[in-house]
Amino acid sequence: MRKRNLVVAIDGPAGAGKSTVAQLAAKKLEYTYIDTGAMYRAVAWRSLRAGAPLTDEKILRALEDIDVLLSYEDGKTRVFVNGEDVTKEIRTPEVSAVVSRVAAMGEVRAKLVELQRKMAVHGAVLMDGRDIATNVLPNADVKIFLTASIEERAARRWKELKEKGYDTSFEEVKSDIAKRDKADSEREISPLVQAEDAELLDTTGMTIEEVVAAILKRCE
Ligand code: CDP
Repeated sequence: MRKRNLVVAIDGPAGAGKSTVAQLAAKKLEYTYIDTGAMYRAVAWRSLRAGAPLTDEKILRALEDIDVLLSYEDGKTRVFVNGEDVTKEIRTPEVSAVVSRVAAMGEVRAKLVELQRKMAVHGAVLMDGRDIATNVLPNADVKIFLTASIEERAARRWKELKEKGYDTSFEEVKSDIAKRDKADSEREISPLVQAEDAELLDTTGMTIEEVVAAILKRCE
């Protein structure tokens, strides 16, 4: 079902289900899926390796010679940092707790945005994040702002964490998500905001299949 080489941008707050549905939609379209959140998480993960407390210096040092590689095969993304597979490691609550701070730094954004734009030059890509439609790919052919109620987003993330064996409460997950949304929306550089020309897709109460179908419809 390959369509012409469109550039599709999907933004939205934490836990809106972007990576799940974007991955599936990209597979259907035979496009490459680019998870920009994974790239910020990769920098955060590497910064944490220098031990606590996290400082701007440690973040900049981690950024210096970082090599972030996203491989997308069979509808699944794997993330490599300097050759090491960190797909699982970048999704821990520890990384989630610091990633917004890392992503607010201008140096981090400049480096990753440059990489992201290079990844999209040939089109046939579906990229998700916070600033894709507003900043990374302002000329994208399709722009979608994906969201859901905070209750539903927290419930989805809580379920995901429980399945991975993490022992956290629903309230804790909800408060983490709310904190991250606030930090992402209020930061100075490229904050999370719906682009003027993006279409709002509220997925509250929708199934994964329904959301994927809604995205594909917008790509027709
Ligand atoms: O999957 P989840 O909704 O938890 O978030 P993510 O997409 O993995 O993104 C993790 C964090 O990276 C976000 O909370 C933002 O702070 C940052 N991010 C960003 O600043 N810009 C992007 N384009 C993508 C992610």
